[in-house]
Amino acid sequence: MSWPYKDLIAIQDLKADEINTILDMTASFKEISRRDIKKVPALRGKTVVLLFYEPSTRTRLSFELAAKRLSADTTALSASGSSFSKGETIMDAAYNVMAMAPDCIVIRYPYAGIPRKMAELLPCSVINAGDGYHEHPTQALLDMYSMKEHFGRIEGLKVAIVGDIMHSRVARSNVYGLRKLGAQVVLVAPKTLLPPGIETWDVEVSTKLDPVLPEADVVMMLRVQRERLHQQFFSGEREYSFFYGLNRARVEKMKPDAVIMHPGPMNRGVEITHDAADSARSIILDQVENGVAIRMTLLYLSLGGSINVD
Ligand code: CP
Repeated sequence: MSWPYKDLIAIQDLKADEINTILDMTASFKEISRRDIKKVPALRGKTVVLLFYEPSTRTRLSFELAAKRLSADTTALSASGSSFSKGETIMDAAYNVMAMAPDCIVIRYPYAGIPRKMAELLPCSVINAGDGYHEHPTQALLDMYSMKEHFGRIEGLKVAIVGDIMHSRVARSNVYGLRKLGAQVVLVAPKTLLPPGIETWDVEVSTKLDPVLPEADVVMMLRVQRERLHQQFFSGEREYSFFYGLNRARVEKMKPDAVIMHPGPMNRGVEITHDAADSARSIILDQVENGVAIRMTLLYLSLGGSINVD
């Protein structure tokens, strides 16, 4: 059976059974990364272009490794080394890249909507690697995979997402995905970092972290996105850390089997301390490992692989 979509732009576009298909297929791709020879011929002859107009460590590297492990050819372009700095628009760049016949474009862009526009206009597959505050669908899929791997289920889990919800595409994609799969979500942030219209989201909201900790199965800390904070949203990082930072004392308030997650990059000492980030409850590096496997699954499906893979 083939995957019905050319592109992956948003978790909002996927049905629950489609998310489950992606998660179920990912274990077999993860196994490839644990072999001595980490390469299979699944995408031999395919070309994946990575267009990153914002900085990235995890997403860019994991897409590149995922493509290479499936034997696709890859090439990457970032804003600083491209003709973007000479005034070329993103859509002109996209048409020019398309003229070189890639099979897939992975795009990260600072503003919402560009990946969807590219997907509508270009014949190749387009995968959204994060667009503005809109969505970061591959991050949410790797997060959900990591939860399912750890707990054996997603339905019924209580997931606290803590921090800068307003500017977080990771929070949005996780909310959409986790709710579709039957998890409860509680968003924790100061009022100033909650987006307008939050009351219409299908989630609980708390402006206090401490009462949420003993109830949550997953505590997902978000980075304070300094590059997107163009006004004063809280009085300082010390105060933010005092009220919303995950530290040793707060880790001790968590349920005994609860886990700590963070999409990265972390601001150690702001939203999370060393002893929380590096504690036995942290599955942050599992998230990173699973990022490669999820992106192998998504490249494989987007480029025409069948759902029943052995
Ligand atoms: N989680 C995430 O998107 O990390 P990068 O910005 O390093 O890709």
